[in-house]
Amino acid sequence: MLLLSGLVFSVTVFAETPPVPAEASAAAPATGQASEYTEKGADTCIKCHDEDSEFPVFSIFKTKHAQPADKRTPFAGLQCEACHGPGANHAKTAQPGQKQAPIIAFGPHSKLTADKRNPVPPEEQNRICLGCHRGDARIGWNASAHESGNLACVSCHKIHAEHDPVLATSSQPEVCYQCHQKQRADFNKPSVHPVRFGLIACSECHRPHGSNTSALLAKPTLNQTCYTCHAEKRGPFLWEHAPVAEDCTLCHTPHGSVYPALLKKNPPLLCQQCHSPAGHPSIARTADGLPGGTSAPSGFLLAGSCTNCHSQVHGSNHPSGVKLMR
Ligand code: HEC
Ligand code: HEC
Ligand code: HEC
Ligand code: HEC
Ligand code: HEC
Ligand code: HEC
Ligand code: HEC
Ligand code: HEC
Ligand code: HEC
Ligand code: HEC
Repeated sequence: MLLLSGLVFSVTVFAETPPVPAEASAAAPATGQASEYTEKGADTCIKCHDEDSEFPVFSIFKTKHAQPADKRTPFAGLQCEACHGPGANHAKTAQPGQKQAPIIAFGPHSKLTADKRNPVPPEEQNRICLGCHRGDARIGWNASAHESGNLACVSCHKIHAEHDPVLATSSQPEVCYQCHQKQRADFNKPSVHPVRFGLIACSECHRPHGSNTSALLAKPTLNQTCYTCHAEKRGPFLWEHAPVAEDCTLCHTPHGSVYPALLKKNPPLLCQQCHSPAGHPSIARTADGLPGGTSAPSGFLLAGSCTNCHSQVHGSNHPSGVKLMR
């Protein structure tokens, strides 16, 4: 009877999002639980899971998931069990000395299995979330680096938190740094995109849920990603500097650098990677190759070096800017 009412209930409530109950019960066998929902939903759960329990759950009532007026949310339907799956068996009082019957848990660990490993693999956990969140932003999830890296949605998201840290610019980097240690080091270098000051989020340049580019970039190409904030570098220029239009990272690192302006190297070495070391631009910091030179180091190559004269290194719109000097 319980089973029947559970099914009828779920079909009517989820008429608009049919995948959910199907996904939830499909994941159920992994934990060995029966596919029965409780009759009273959250009211049953919070008899045991209250604010005094080891993992306080009430904070979820302050989130977008707990908006009963919004028909799409869990709390307009199966409530806790929309995510955790059918919980009637689990909600029964356990015999003394016995553990609670299992229920779907998220993340790598489960309290109710002997070896503490979660028997619900990330893919099945994610299917529950994707049942409601398959829309636009997650279209690229399958086949993304994070999906093939076997991440769960909850590797980044906190559901039982009033404010999910990964959604806020200031707290997001810490979530990413758990796994991306090298980027933490990069963003602590002297010249950086101001991520550590809470002014830019990783997700302004990256699509954590997947994109068509190799590094999960927010736009179809690297340069387009940069132009979203540095539009003045897009041109069109009368006198283009070829590498700029091709790829900003020929000269810049995106995260952080020990050189000023996020450069990979300082001029003249930066420029001499491509420009012949013979002739005028040749010998770094000596005047020999320059007009009017002596053998003493040239003042022109100090400080800004090549950019003392070629200041329009990103391109020039001046009629006589062909040598990128104005
Ligand atoms: C009779 C008390 C009781 C009821 C009712 C109850 N639980 Fe539990 N639940 C427990 C206990 C005990 C644990 C063991 C872990 C712990 O100490 O927190 C647990 C653990 C869990 C876990 C973690 C499972 C794991 O493998 O780590 C989840 C998730 C959970 N409950 C959700 C629910 C939901 C959803 C409901 C309502 C459908 C519910 N519980 C109803 C007592 C209860
Ligand atoms: C939108 C999906 C969703 C809903 C709805 C939901 N939970 Fe959870 N629950 C999760 C996720 C994901 C986690 C893992 C921790 C986190 O993300 O905060 C979790 C963790 C838990 C845990 C801790 C398990 C552990 O490892 O100790 C308990 C207990 C729990 N939930 C009970 C409940 C109860 C009770 C309700 C209803 C009041 C509920 N959940 C509603 C997704 C949900
Ligand atoms: C029953 C459907 C349903 C399920 C299952 C579900 N969600 Fe949601 N979720 C929603 C709805 C509806 C919203 C509110 C969307 C809005 O306001 O535009 C939402 C909002 C969110 C948000 C944005 C919160 C915010 O403050 O902006 C995140 C992140 C999220 N869900 C992640 C998850 C994850 C991770 C899971 C799986 C553990 C999950 N959801 C399971 C329906 C669901
Ligand atoms: C690598 C970390 C990461 C993983 C894994 C991840 N997310 Fe997100 N998610 C984010 C970040 C960062 C944001 C905020 C910026 C944005 O919208 O891209 C976000 C935003 C969201 C939002 C709210 C905004 C929106 O796009 O509607 C939802 C819903 C959401 N994620 C669901 C999911 C689901 C479902 C999964 C699992 C399939 C998942 N996320 C996996 C990092 C992650
Ligand atoms: C739980 C660990 C984990 C978390 C948290 C995480 N990532 Fe990842 N990330 C991975 C794995 C695993 C890969 C795929 C393997 C690889 O290329 O390193 C990956 C790949 C990436 C890539 C693509 C790398 C490439 O070379 O194509 C980017 C970009 C990225 N993550 C950004 C983020 C951002 C931004 C966040 C925070 C919103 C984040 N990650 C959070 C584990 C994580
Ligand atoms: C200003 C834009 C921008 C911001 C902000 C940004 N990234 Fe990136 N990131 C890039 C670009 C562009 C690449 C690709 C570099 C390449 O292909 O040479 C990249 C590459 C990566 C990679 C792949 C490995 C690598 O280093 O090349 C990871 C992982 C990554 N970013 C993580 C992060 C994390 C984590 C954050 C936030 C703490 C972050 N990124 C913030 C632009 C950005
Ligand atoms: C989300 C907006 C945003 C995106 C996207 C972005 N930047 Fe930036 N960029 C900034 C901000 C903000 C600063 C800091 C400006 C300041 O400090 O005055 C900055 C500064 C810089 C600087 C100068 C750093 C210094 O120390 O003077 C360079 C170079 C740069 N960005 C290159 C890039 C490149 C290359 C890309 C593409 C991979 C890119 N930016 C994408 C916002 C962005
Ligand atoms: C040929 C090498 C090179 C390429 C390619 C390049 N830059 Fe630069 N960029 C520089 C140099 C050198 C500086 C330092 C300027 C100075 O010293 O006056 C700089 C400075 C900057 C600055 C900070 C000062 C300013 O002019 O606003 C930003 C922002 C910037 N670059 C963005 C970009 C973007 C976006 C791209 C790709 C569209 C790009 N750069 C491609 C060499 C390059
Ligand atoms: C990644 C390779 C690369 C780097 C690095 C590079 N350039 Fe260039 N540069 C080019 C190419 C390619 C052209 C176009 C040459 C042509 O059209 O014959 C060019 C053209 C120029 C021109 C115009 C030459 C002409 O004959 O019109 C100047 C001036 C110049 N670069 C200066 C610099 C300076 C200064 C730097 C360092 C800040 C620099 N370049 C770094 C590749 C590079
Ligand atoms: C004192 C000013 C000055 C400095 C410093 C300088 N240049 Fe030039 N550069 C010029 C002038 C003037 C021309 C135009 C010469 C001509 O038209 O014959 C030129 C032309 C060029 C050209 C075009 C090649 C050609 O033969 O027309 C390149 C490439 C170039 N410079 C690169 C560099 C690089 C790389 C550096 C740094 C190592 C550098 N310049 C430093 C003034 C300077």
